[in-house]
Amino acid sequence: MSSQTPYKVLCVCLGNICRSPTAEVILKHFCDKQQLNVFIDSAGTSNYHPNKAPDQRSQKHALQRGYDLSSLRARQLKIQDFIEFDLILAMDEENLFNIQALFKQAHQQYSAEQIRAEIALMSEYDAIYPKQALPDPYYGGEAGFERVLDQCESSSLGWVNHFKQWLAVK
Ligand code: 4NP
Repeated sequence: MSSQTPYKVLCVCLGNICRSPTAEVILKHFCDKQQLNVFIDSAGTSNYHPNKAPDQRSQKHALQRGYDLSSLRARQLKIQDFIEFDLILAMDEENLFNIQALFKQAHQQYSAEQIRAEIALMSEYDAIYPKQALPDPYYGGEAGFERVLDQCESSSLGWVNHFKQWLAVK
């Protein structure tokens, strides 16, 4: 992680228009603040919203906390991502299940040496919401979008502390 090559993290939810773009921008914000050499992207397990900007409600609530999601565009998770990314973060258990299913397919097409990705929950090291799913806000009200922001901030702090420890031992 301390070399020139960035550590690459992919945040994954279902649609890639609410939770994972929010996680992408917030995790990037916290990594940049600590000057960590981490590249972050996001994707969805579905292809429901290809090339769409994040949901207007996600954009609005994020901007109220200073996070600009407007330039992001949705894309689907693909097998190549297991080759290119070091860490794939699932927003909930259903995403985790679907990521693991594609991971198995990746292992059928590529050797173990070629596959770089580890898979974990976004909330793995979260001090406030440990190993808890980020609830899908898409069909709910405003509070759901605030909850996503709260959890993304809290989970990102957990990951950044973890990345800093990794950096120290490398
Ligand atoms: P996300 O939310 O997985 O956090 O992006 C959703 C976005 C769209 C849909 C479901 C969840 N949808 O069914 O279209």
